[in-house]
Formats: sequence, structure tokens, C-alpha cells
Amino acid sequence: MTETPKSPAPPAAPPDSPPPDQPIRIPEICPALLLNDVLIFPNTIVPLAIASPAMISMVNDALSGHRVVAAFTRAPSPRTEKPEDQFFGIGTAAHIMKMFRMPDGTIRLLVQGLTRIKRTEVLATDPYLQVRIEPLEIPRNTNVQIEGLTRKVLSDFSKYAEEHSLPDEVRIAVHNISDPGALADIVASNLNLPITDRQALLENNDLEPRLTLVATHLARELELLRIGTEIRSKVEQELEENQKEYYLREQLKAIRKELGEESEGGAEIAEFEKRVADAGLPAQAAEAAKKELDRMRVMSVSSAEYSVSRTYIEWLVSLPWNKATSDEIKLEDAEIRLNMDHYGLDEVKTRILEFLAVRKLRKTHRGPILCFAGPPGVGKTSLGQSIAGALNRQFIRMSLGGVRDEAEIRGHRRTYVGAMPGRIMQSIRRVSVNNPVLMLDEIDKLGMDFRGDPASALLEVLDPAQNSTFADHYLDVEFDLSTVFFITTANDIGQIPGPLRDRMEIIEIPSYITDEKIQIGLRYLLPRQREENGLKPSHLDITEEGMRALVRGYTREAGVRKLEQRIGSVCRKIARVVADGKRKTVTLTAKNVAQYLGPALFAEDDLPPEPRVGVALGLAWTPVGGEILVIESTLMSGSGKLQVTGQLGDVMKESAQIALSYMRSHSAELGINDDKFVKFDIHLHVPEGATPKEGPSAGVALALSLASLLTGNPVRNDICMTGEITLSGNVLPVGGIREKIVAAARRGISDIIIPADNEKDLFYVPDHVKSRVRFHPVETVSQVLEFGMLPPKVKSKNSKSKTRRKAVA
Ligand SMILES: Nc1ncnc2c1ncn2[C@@H]1O[C@H](COP(=O)(O)OP(=O)(O)OP(=O)(O)O)[C@@H](O)[C@H]1O
Ligand SMILES: [Mg+2]
Repeated sequence: MTETPKSPAPPAAPPDSPPPDQPIRIPEICPALLLNDVLIFPNTIVPLAIASPAMISMVNDALSGHRVVAAFTRAPSPRTEKPEDQFFGIGTAAHIMKMFRMPDGTIRLLVQGLTRIKRTEVLATDPYLQVRIEPLEIPRNTNVQIEGLTRKVLSDFSKYAEEHSLPDEVRIAVHNISDPGALADIVASNLNLPITDRQALLENNDLEPRLTLVATHLARELELLRIGTEIRSKVEQELEENQKEYYLREQLKAIRKELGEESEGGAEIAEFEKRVADAGLPAQAAEAAKKELDRMRVMSVSSAEYSVSRTYIEWLVSLPWNKATSDEIKLEDAEIRLNMDHYGLDEVKTRILEFLAVRKLRKTHRGPILCFAGPPGVGKTSLGQSIAGALNRQFIRMSLGGVRDEAEIRGHRRTYVGAMPGRIMQSIRRVSVNNPVLMLDEIDKLGMDFRGDPASALLEVLDPAQNSTFADHYLDVEFDLSTVFFITTANDIGQIPGPLRDRMEIIEIPSYITDEKIQIGLRYLLPRQREENGLKPSHLDITEEGMRALVRGYTREAGVRKLEQRIGSVCRKIARVVADGKRKTVTLTAKNVAQYLGPALFAEDDLPPEPRVGVALGLAWTPVGGEILVIESTLMSGSGKLQVTGQLGDVMKESAQIALSYMRSHSAELGINDDKFVKFDIHLHVPEGATPKEGPSAGVALALSLASLLTGNPVRNDICMTGEITLSGNVLPVGGIREKIVAAARRGISDIIIPADNEKDLFYVPDHVKSRVRFHPVETVSQVLEFGMLPPKVKSKNSKSKTRRKAVA
């Protein structure tokens, strides 16, 4: 059998023949040279080592004859057990050029491949295989395709030869070949191919497919080479960097040791390492932690840097990267919970449940952010708490009031001394889960100054498309906020920055009227305050009338926060009485409220108790709910000047001027003596300094007040009004209708004049409010005057029995 020696065999006794000048004739019957793992291509010269005695005797016989043998290669998976079938049927006729005998009895051969042959018959198997062969025809056609392939093979091979540092002779020889078939064979013999691929090339007698196959193998080899080089250079580079870093660190350590500054933080660092491993950090954070620990290792524990690093690592490991509470939205539970915690608010609850239903169906955390808008103390925060309770999530509140610095939202970069993460990440760390209900309170009170715009940072927090990769400046690694349930609250939607508002689903919560407050007080606030102050239900009861007295006499607010405080102070007083053993049970009624809370703070009588001349009731909108404005005017001798007091804004002052001009221009119609405008001064005053008085909506009330003053007709004291007026006497629509109406209803007003164009806004007024007041839509000032003024002579204590006009409810 045979093997290939890597280098040519050393010369021994050379029984060889000179290379023949004329083409070698290939006999029909040849001894077979059987090869393991070697394949001889035509046109190539191959050194062989032969050790099997049968083969050696075959070679000896061949050398004494025509020196041509039929070389076949062993098939990796033979067809049958027969010895001749162990080899491929197509082989190469080969000429033995040289033979060397080795001292150990084996021989070395140098053979030259001549042509492809096919084994047609096995003639003998002993002592060695004798076969009948048939040379395969070589088609010598050529075409453009073949020419192209030839060039491709030539150019690729020279690259290949260079990369593999093949001997120059090979390169030159290949370039000098003119026959494409020979080229394919020689190139194939130089490629490092498995034996089956080599055999396939040998069996491919047709030129074009053979060249194609060679070209493909060659291209593949080059690609492998390229990838290999790339990998090698990468590995080398990495090794170099690692070594460099390691070397530098070791050096640094040595220097520190020398200086007596070696980090004593070993134990702590090991502890941190363990915590980092346990915290399940995402790759990016884990990498940051590792880097920081590496830095700590070479720091002095007493250095400021070390504690900065420690704080940072502490932050990384204590964030709830993958801690979450189980999250399933059960709508029935949510409904029960909302009802349990809050009285009324039916519309609000319905909208919250709808919102949750959509979230449940869509199964994503994407979607608008809920925003509860309304005056203080109406239950915005506590609705958020109920939602969290219903969803089984943690609740955390974060106030944005007065936040003016972007860094408060997303932290300071660590390059700042005393840098900290922003409030969002602080909240997340505090709740220790990554899916809390996070309430951003007072989003309308966000500030903005030179330190950057917190609204734009918030935008990133609230935008579902961005918040899964929220990067706090301090932490400098991404944290996924997409599972946080954000809820925002605001008093005044108008103050929320536009882009933020667009991402929110705004649910407005109106202020409460007296009856609602009474019910909230009795059903929710009283039990809660009793419990907080250690009282049993038997100790204190409040009658409905008692609660009404409390609400009316001691609170004036849109929500119920003050009411809760008042009930709280009643509870404390009772607690003392009970604890002293003086009384066992107290019932608070309208009569004894003052005994516990002192005289009423708000007298009902700041509204005129009877129709008066010059006194009209306007309505104002404030962020804390609607308010009634009492407008007074008086006449005094003078020269026709208008004096306005009560800290009115410019627009409101102008409204007063417009109202006066209207009166002058319509004096005849209204029956006003023109002398009144020249011989008298008018003083107009709006008391109660706390309410901001700005905007044109008091126009109708100012007009009514002046008309009453100038005509001497009293104004009905049971009506309120809002609307802007024009010089020509038209009434224009105004804003804040709902809050204004709720405020009027709260104060027990029965009739409200509104601009006709505002009638559509009544849709948003809660039904229970609508049912207690009558609306009087008007288009002109004269309609207002006609409806609002009483005939001059009538003096009535209570005008509620007076004639009613068109009533819309
Ligand atoms: N409809 C209601 N039923 C029962 N309790 C209520 C209702 N509305 C408000 N409360 C209670 O009133 C108190 C004040 O409410 P909360 O703190 O939620 O007000 P808020 O709207 O968040 O006000 P602010 O705008 O000032 O933050 C809470 O104790 C809350 O439980
Ligand atoms: Mg609140």
C-alpha cells in the first residue's frame, strides 16, 4: 500500500528510466497501483512511498516492462466486499519515473499522471491486481465560457499560491499551461481537498464542469482563508488588549502597594461581586458593574472615588431589574375596589374601567397615559391608589410640582460631584418592583429654566416607544420602564405642556356639590377619621344635617380635603371627651357643631340675602374650582368717572368700561337719565381678594350691576351669570362652564344665565348638578337685564317666588 511523503525521497539505488521523448503509450492491460488517501491527477508528478510486499513486487514487474500502471484510489465507503471494489473504478494511468529502494525494504516512487482511465475488467487478483483499462476521451473543445473560467482559475490560483506560499515553480508552471484541462488538474492537485472531492474532479471528464468545479473549490478556499485571517487578527488584537490591560492593572496595583495604598476593599468587593451575580443584571448593566468593580479594586478605600463607585454599584444591584408583582387585570375586582374607596364619580369610574379593559384586551403596556384632571381634594391621588390596589401593584407617588431641572427627572451625570439618579429611578428603587403604578402628581406645575426642560425628559419616560430603553444619566445603563403603569394628575389641563398632553387620556374629575360632600363625609371620611383617632362607631355619629352644617359653615372648597380635616378635628375633640370618661357617645348635629368647631367660618350670608340695587353675582373659574363673584357698584356725585377696585385684571376693567359705554349708548331704551353719566361718579367693587379676577367672563354681571345701579331696579339674588359682552350688546361664549355651574349649585343658586353658544358645554355637567339648577341661555345684554332685574318698587325678602322665564335644564 502507499502513502505520500511530504518531501521527495532521498536517492538510493536508482533503477529508473530517462523521461521519454515521445508520448507514452498506454497498454490495454495494466497492473493496478492501489492508493490510500492519494489521488494522482493527469499532468502531475507525485512522490509515493510503498510498503506492501504485493505492491512492491508489482512495481518491480512494471519497471521491467513498460513502466505504466493503473492507479486507483481507495473508496471511503466501498460498494461490495470484493477486493477490486474497494477502489474507485475511474483512475489515472501513471508512468513510474523514478524508484528508490530504502534501507528498511520499502520503496519510494516518483510517478507522473498521464490520462484518465476506466477499469473495464479485472483479469487477476493474485499476486496483485491486473486490470483491463480504457483511456477516457478528452474533449478538447473551447469556448468563451471556458476561457473565462480559465482566467478566473488562473487569477484565483495565484492569490491562493501566494497565501499558501507554494513554491515559485508551481506558480510559473501553472501560468505556462495552455491546455485548460491540464490547468484544472494541476490546480486541483494543489488544493487541499478531501479525497471524495478529488475523485469527483477526476471523474469529471468534461472540461467546462470540471473547470467550474475547480473554480468553486478555489473560491471557497480563498474565502476560508480570508475568514481565517480575520479571526486570527481579531483574536490577536483582543489578546493584546487584555494583556495590556492586565499588565497595566498589575503595575498600578504594584505602585499602590509600594505607596501603601493598596485597596483594602477586597472583602467588600467580593461581596458586591456576589450581589451583582445574584441581581440578574441585564448584560449592559452587568458590564458596567464589572468595570466599576475593576476600578474599585485598585482604589484606596478611603478615597472619595471609592465611595462614589460604591454608591454606584449599590444602585445597580438594588434596582428591581427583573422583580415584578404578578400582573393580571381583573375588571370585576377593579370595579369593586373603585366603588369601595370612592363615592359617586360614576362617569370617572366607568372611564377608568374602560381604560383597563382596553389594556387587558390589547395585552400590551403601550397606549395613552391616564391623566386625572380636577381641583384639589377631589380624589385624584386616591383613585390612583385604588387602581394600584385593584391591579395588585405597588403604588408610588412622585410630585412634579416645581421641578424645573431635567436632571431631577433623569439624574446627573456621574462626573458631577454628588450626582444622583433622577426621581424616576429613585421611585423605582423605593418600590423594588419594575411594574408599579407610578403617579406623577401635578404635571401641570412642571417648571422650565436654563437647566433644561424637564418636560422633554418626561416625554421620554411616558412615551411607550422610548421608555423601554430609558437611560438615567447617573446610571448610564438602560432600564425598561415599559411595564410601569403611569398615571398623571393635574389641576389645570391648560398648563400641561402640549406634547405631554397629547400622549394622555385625560379624565376630568369635577368638583363636588354640597350633597355629594355630605355623603362622602358620612360614608367615607367619618369612618376613616374615627378609626384614625381611635374612636368606635358608637362614640361618634354625625347626622346628615350636622354634616351639612360642617360642609357649609366650615369648608369652602371644590374637593373634600378640608372637610376631612374638620371631621378629624371633631374626632380628636370627641376622643378627648371619651377618654376623659366624660361622655360615652356624641352625636353631632347642626345645632352643636359650633360647640366643637367654634363659630362657622363661612357665613351663608356673603351672598346677598335679598335683591339689591347694584349687586350682581358673577362666576369665576380658578384651578381650584369655580367661585361666585359678588359685584357691587354705587353712585356718588362727581363728574362721570368710573372707579374700579378689588384688584381686577386689565381685561376685567375693560369689561366694566364696555358695560358702562353700553349703558350710555342705550340710556333712552333703559330709561336712564343722561345726567347720571356726567354728574355722578360710579364706583365698582369686587370683594374677596383671594379669587383671581381676570378675563372677560364677568361682562354680563358687570353690565347687570351697572344697569341696576343706574335704573334703580334691584337685581335678583338667586341668579348667577357668566358671559362676555360686546359694545353692541351681544353676549359671547366663555370657558370653564362646568366648574362655574358646579360652584353655583354648591352655593344653592337656582338659576344661571349662560351665553347661548355655551349651551353645548352643558353636556359635560354631571346630571345630578343639572337637575338642581335652571339654565337661561342668552344672546344679548338686554335679555340679561330683562331677566335679571326686578321692577323698582318691589321689595321682597326672598325672591325665589318670583316669576320664572324660559328654563332649560
Ligand atoms: N369620591 C370620594 N369618595 C371618597 N373619598 C374621597 C372621594 N374623593 C376624595 N376623597 C378623599 O379625599 C381625600 C383627598 O383626595 P386626594 O388626595 O385623592 O385628592 P387629589 O385630587 O389628589 O388632590 P390634589 O390635587 O390636591 O393632589 C382623600 O382622602 C380621598 O380618599
Ligand atoms: Mg393628589
